[in-house]
Amino acid sequence: MALLEVQGLTKRFGGLVAVNDVSLSVEPGEIRGLIGPNGAGKTTLFNVISGALKPSAGRIRFDGRDITGVPMHALVRRGVVRTFQHSQLFPGFTVLRNVLIGLHLHAGSGFLEGLVNSPATRRRREELEDRAMEIVRFVGISARAHELAATLPHGYKRILQVAVALGPTPRLLLLDEPVAGMNHEDVDRMMDLVRDLREKRGITVVLVEHNMQAVMNVCDRITCIQFGRKIAEGTPEVVSQDPTVIEAYLGTFDDDDGDPVPNMDSHDASNVDSHDAA
Ligand SMILES: Nc1ncnc2c1ncn2[C@@H]1O[C@H](COP(=O)(O)OP(=O)(O)OP(=O)(O)O)[C@@H](O)[C@H]1O
Ligand SMILES: [Mg+2]
Repeated sequence: MALLEVQGLTKRFGGLVAVNDVSLSVEPGEIRGLIGPNGAGKTTLFNVISGALKPSAGRIRFDGRDITGVPMHALVRRGVVRTFQHSQLFPGFTVLRNVLIGLHLHAGSGFLEGLVNSPATRRRREELEDRAMEIVRFVGISARAHELAATLPHGYKRILQVAVALGPTPRLLLLDEPVAGMNHEDVDRMMDLVRDLREKRGITVVLVEHNMQAVMNVCDRITCIQFGRKIAEGTPEVVSQDPTVIEAYLGTFDDDDGDPVPNMDSHDASNVDSHDAA
């Protein structure tokens, strides 16, 4: 049975159909790529699946249960967690504290509990701190655990975003452009982490990415959308040679590197998706 099943999903913003009748199904343990030109509707699809936005039509099932319209905080508790295209870190807090906040939110331990100093709350706090450190180690940034998030190099910030998302122990992790703006070395590190999420944690991953090389290397299957509609789906080999996909990307071909696959590295991160915060 599929872990995630999306059926006929549509999201309208007034007259604009951002996601148009999209169906897809993701198997447990799969790493799925979601690609498409700027404005294709990828982030909107994530927003709807993760419960940040309600769909205009269609159904979403997770692990056999209908989760259509279930709000984000409730989905996080069920194991559906996403990261954002633009950083949502607390820049003035350390790496460890950022992860801790994610854990606290999930553990439902309130603000007041932090002020109480009973043995039970102390134990609980230590437990969460141990878990936070374990996550920081798992993603490979323990050497920077006590640095402020603001001072991290870009690649480490993106890794930290994934670390924060691991707090709620996701079963399905939706990553929105995890390697955007990264150098080759950082891209490799992130892709190794994505593989580890599956191999060592059994997490199913859906990732939106414009970096075609990264997508082709790490994903089992790829879904391509354009103007809100699914236009292709299959293995990286099949999708990268699909004429419809190539045509969708033609305007953004990067001929400089002689790379036969469309290169979307030129992606302009300046399109601020205020809807991410919705
Ligand atoms: N909250 C919103 N209100 C109105 N229009 C929106 C909203 N969110 C997204 N859109 C529009 O929906 C379309 C799809 O946007 P979306 O951000 O999902 O694209 P995307 O595929 O993630 O693009 P990119 O690759 O640039 O991140 C765009 O035309 C966008 O302007
Ligand atoms: Mg987007």
